[in-house]
Amino acid sequence: MKVTVIGTGYVGLVTGVCLAHSGHDVTCVDVDRAKIATLSAGTSTIYEPGLEELLAEGIASGRLRFATPDVGWKDLISDITFVAVGTPMASNGAADLTAVRTVVSALAEAADRPFTLVMKSTVPPGTGGTLASRFLASSEANIGYVSNPEFLREGHAIDDWYHTDRIVLGAENTAALDIMRELYASIDAPVVATDVASAETIKYASNAFLSTKISFINEIANLCDYVGADIDAVANGVGLDTRIGSQFLKAGIGYGGSCFPKDTRALDFIATMNGYQFTLLKSVIEVNNRQRLQPVVRLARAFPDLHERTIAILGLSFKPNTDDVRESPALDIIPLLAEEGARILVYDPRAAEADIPGALRVDSVWTALAGASAAIVVTEWREFIDLDWVHAKEVMTDPAIVFDGRNCLDANAVRASGMSYMAVGRDGAHREA
Ligand SMILES: NC(=O)c1ccc[n+]([C@@H]2O[C@H](COP(=O)([O-])OP(=O)(O)OC[C@H]3O[C@@H](n4cnc5c(N)ncnc54)[C@H](O)[C@@H]3O)[C@@H](O)[C@H]2O)c1
Repeated sequence: MKVTVIGTGYVGLVTGVCLAHSGHDVTCVDVDRAKIATLSAGTSTIYEPGLEELLAEGIASGRLRFATPDVGWKDLISDITFVAVGTPMASNGAADLTAVRTVVSALAEAADRPFTLVMKSTVPPGTGGTLASRFLASSEANIGYVSNPEFLREGHAIDDWYHTDRIVLGAENTAALDIMRELYASIDAPVVATDVASAETIKYASNAFLSTKISFINEIANLCDYVGADIDAVANGVGLDTRIGSQFLKAGIGYGGSCFPKDTRALDFIATMNGYQFTLLKSVIEVNNRQRLQPVVRLARAFPDLHERTIAILGLSFKPNTDDVRESPALDIIPLLAEEGARILVYDPRAAEADIPGALRVDSVWTALAGASAAIVVTEWREFIDLDWVHAKEVMTDPAIVFDGRNCLDANAVRASGMSYMAVGRDGAHREA
């Protein structure tokens, strides 16, 4: 089928590349000319395992091409046109729908024949209805609207695309649903066909629930630090209950990324605007904001004077196997340590360039650790899990502390090196005090 994908970020690029791999004829569109030039040359603009290979394959097959809107929207519209532009967090916590409105309005104005507009961007419940009445109803073309939220995880995006747990399709008419079922025919997953507002809500409810699980286990981990329990044993024992499940029960310094922080805030905002106080969600957000400060609080206690101490930040991306640094806990931790006068060296094997005032980015873990009084593991990259902690102790300054913000290290191996080990709910922090 002929498909256009508008927005070639983490979601749009994966969507376009994977649809082309499934045999569809895909045009990916972005306003960012540099991005389009790079992608057209076969180079991926993001780090996502397996993506670059599929990108090269798509271009070589002639089924995948890239364009900017300069070509003219009329010529870019396909029978199925996805919108996958960003919906970042506005300063009041709402989802900023500027890019979505710009694109939908341009498509509605340019269209001269029927097509199906598929919303892949995460947009708050009610948005589809508003877009339809504000832009699509007045269009001369008959435009079908489908809400098709995306659930892929960065770092596993390709696999998630082909092996998704479900495909959610929200539409007000069955014709649009039938077209989408045909598009996704090669993917073996249950289809949840519903109305637009319900599809939009499924996306936010899913992210809010996963965020809740993370904040919940982090609260239990914090309690473990007071009562002397071990969060790993607790999470294992809790997660084996099939009603609960073991995923998202990993304690640490909290969630980050381009989705959970903004989607929880946007859901809280939309609840408030509709006159509902979503108390549980507010707590989830508050717990997460507090959780990421743990390394700073603990190190400040361990080193009453952080001034001119070197601190190594291991990991800048919000999770491993992605270069995405959006809402990474590191971006909150670094300025606080810098304010205390610490000298901060940051190492990440893949993270995109980010503006990190007060810190110096270095290109090896050993450079980051040299002379450091403390290392904070912010991202559970394999490289840090497998690190030689005996050698780390040799290059760091005594008495050195390792703060394991992801509870991912072998605590005994770190302790055996002679360094202090701190974690979240693993080291009885508040019993020691
Ligand atoms: N990143 C994820 O893991 C993920 C997962 C599920 C859902 N989502 C949702 O998908 C949407 C996209 O997220 P992302 O992470 O891919 O964003 P992104 O910021 O990586 O990419 C958005 C792209 O849209 C382009 N763009 C902006 N305005 C445009 C316009 N007017 N015309 C054409 N292109 C335009 C930008 O240049 C950019 O390349 C968001 O709503 C997000 O919440 C993201």
